[in-house]
Amino acid sequence: MTTIVQPNASSIEAAANYLADGELVAVPTETVYGLAADATNPNAVAKIFAAKGRPANNPLIVHVASTAAVDAWAMIDSDWLQAACQAAEALWPGPLTLVLPKRDTIPDAVTAGGSTVAIRIPDHPVMQQLLAACSFPLAAPSANRSNSISPTRAEHVAHSFGEQLAMILDGGSCQYGLESTVIRPTESGIEILRPGGISKEQLQEHFKLAPATADSVANEDQDHLSTADQSMPSPGMLSKHYSPAKPIVFVDQWNTAEIPATVVARISFSHLPADEASRFCWHRTASESGDLNQVAHQLFDLMRQADRSDSQLIVVDRCERKGIGAAIMDRLDRATR
Ligand code: TXA
Ligand code: MG
Repeated sequence: MTTIVQPNASSIEAAANYLADGELVAVPTETVYGLAADATNPNAVAKIFAAKGRPANNPLIVHVASTAAVDAWAMIDSDWLQAACQAAEALWPGPLTLVLPKRDTIPDAVTAGGSTVAIRIPDHPVMQQLLAACSFPLAAPSANRSNSISPTRAEHVAHSFGEQLAMILDGGSCQYGLESTVIRPTESGIEILRPGGISKEQLQEHFKLAPATADSVANEDQDHLSTADQSMPSPGMLSKHYSPAKPIVFVDQWNTAEIPATVVARISFSHLPADEASRFCWHRTASESGDLNQVAHQLFDLMRQADRSDSQLIVVDRCERKGIGAAIMDRLDRATR
């Protein structure tokens, strides 16, 4: 298996050297672990697609160290783009990705041949140090095999990729536990392509929402109108995604007559009384107090654990689509399809 390495000045330098040589390095970020390559090297970028089994039409996020670097890779050539980038500065570094017109310096492989590039300034000290040690930006999707659960711990990455990586930098368990929010600035406001670590409520403090996005805010109390059912112009928003190998359903979809609790792995989002919890063959509570930030932080790890448990079915709670809850429900909508 690829070695998991503790981050320090020399291991970060070694990682930067591997990346400069066109190798893949798994890196911690505040959202999930990323599978990084030199974004300016098409051969290195091709290795990401091969290792993940990712369709070539699904573009990658490019990670840079600072807002000055955003300018080097994206074309901020209108007032409204400039305003959007300025507004993003309030939330950067952090779990926010902007889809911007690309410059020619970004190879087509990164953007899947498209004219836009997704850019993010990540807020993890190890990733920041690594970016400072590299003379190029880092293309990095989540470090999981295509369509499976994103990794939030170094061991998750090691389990997925065997020998294919030069190195895995261990940055501990990821603070957010869910991927970044992907937005596309337009002349009439921003469109949310993927809900994530920055909530819609937080975005509204800094950006004007485009009319279609604003309409979906009005509809969001209607649970059946999930974001997964709306058309998403982001190719990565495949409807079946974030899936464990075992079937997973919401607790209200579970047919208790067909599948008894004794073969169910139960993930609850708040305290379950002991007599209720003990009915299941496996049970974990993501947050005793029902804190959704904690639920997001734990969710993918618990889904992986539940997948490895002795169960036939995984049963998970729902939560309100507010704040980080919108991103939690987006991932679970996709996982439970
Ligand atoms: O938190 C994150 O964003 C993590 C960490 C490692 O930074 N990265 C991540 O990358 O989640 P990935 O590749 O798993 O998801 C990127 C999403 C996909 O849905 C992809 O389709 C979308 O961003 N995307 C990338 N470039 C795009 C573009 N130019 N236009 C529209 N969507 C884009
Ligand atoms: Mg991903």
